[in-house]
Amino acid sequence: VKKLARRHAQGGRPVARAAVIGAGIMGGGIAYTTALRGMAVRMKDIAPAALELGMGEARRQLDKQVQQGRMGREKADAVLAAIRAQLDDADLQESDLAIEAVVENLSVKHKVLADLQAKLRPGTVLASNTSSLRIDHIAAPLPRPADVVGLHFFNPVPVMPLVEVVRGKASSDAAVATATAYASALGKTPIVVKDCPGFLVNRILTPYIIAFCDLVSEGADYERVDRALEAFGWPMGPAYLEDVVGMDTGSHVIDIISAGYPQRMRPPERNAIRALVREKRLGQKSGAGFYDYD
Ligand code: CAA
Ligand code: NAD
Repeated sequence: VKKLARRHAQGGRPVARAAVIGAGIMGGGIAYTTALRGMAVRMKDIAPAALELGMGEARRQLDKQVQQGRMGREKADAVLAAIRAQLDDADLQESDLAIEAVVENLSVKHKVLADLQAKLRPGTVLASNTSSLRIDHIAAPLPRPADVVGLHFFNPVPVMPLVEVVRGKASSDAAVATATAYASALGKTPIVVKDCPGFLVNRILTPYIIAFCDLVSEGADYERVDRALEAFGWPMGPAYLEDVVGMDTGSHVIDIISAGYPQRMRPPERNAIRALVREKRLGQKSGAGFYDYD
């Protein structure tokens, strides 16, 4: 995999300055991981609370590194200072690469990406962290679709090694190379995948989550399902995983991917995840989902 990644990264331009749009679970993690590797990051959100949470999580992770003796205080301060949290568009035009990590909704992404691409220099890679939407659909209305790729990180970003680099029909070789080189520079394992709903990993994960919803609708206790999957050897069961992902995102991902493969997947008839969205139990990010959090 590493050899293939090196080949895909050939001709990629180094990234010194990155922009991350959306400071939620994923945007915050991408900004922190990017700064940790010595790059300057502009992190933009429309919600001040999201920016505070993103910066707070970065600070918490860095404090832990310092306490464990893995990093000096000076380095930790420099990493934090490399992330600039902002509500406006200041200096986004200086970015070498920009990543969008806003809500999983095509029209919101179109608006965010069109505004962003209007500010970026031609040739600047514009990446979407979408979980399920096709990159071709995301790139189609943009002025420079050749600069657009998918950069699909996994949650939690600082620890999950895989990154899917999604090559759309219009994506240029240079954009794919720069995105792959950037993921490698973060210490990740990039794989270049074709564009389709859910790419590689979520095409496998989604039927699993649908099967979990079916089990629950047939009367299974979600906590016992989680315990069984942990005993099976997986790091966490499906209910806890959806709490980590976020119920709103999880629900969109099921809808979009199952609609993409109508012959092979159907959404659950009684969808425990959608029911939790209605109850505003969005998972860890809202303090409660399948489980309660302090
Ligand atoms: N941020 C930063 N570091 C974290 C972290 C976080 N949120 N969570 C855990 N860590 C670090 C810990 O500090 C610890 O680091 P050290 O070993 O250096 O001390 C390390 O990760 C292991 O943590 P723990 O021992 O506390 O916990 P664990 O053994 O359960 O491992 C895990 C944590 C690697 C996240 C593991 O639980 C896991 O693999 N979970 C599955 C996560 C998963 O499947 N993610 C995919 C979600 S789906 C998705 O992302 C796609 C999508 O489009 C929706
Ligand atoms: P989240 O709900 O935690 O965060 C989304 C953030 O986007 C919020 O802070 C919100 O204020 C911000 N936002 C909304 N509209 C905006 C705009 N116009 N400009 C700037 N910011 C805006 O969501 P998340 O879990 O971080 O997911 C973000 C993206 O990453 C989605 O496309 C999702 O599918 C994908 N993703 C999520 C996961 C996961 O496990 N949660 C994993 C991989 C990929």
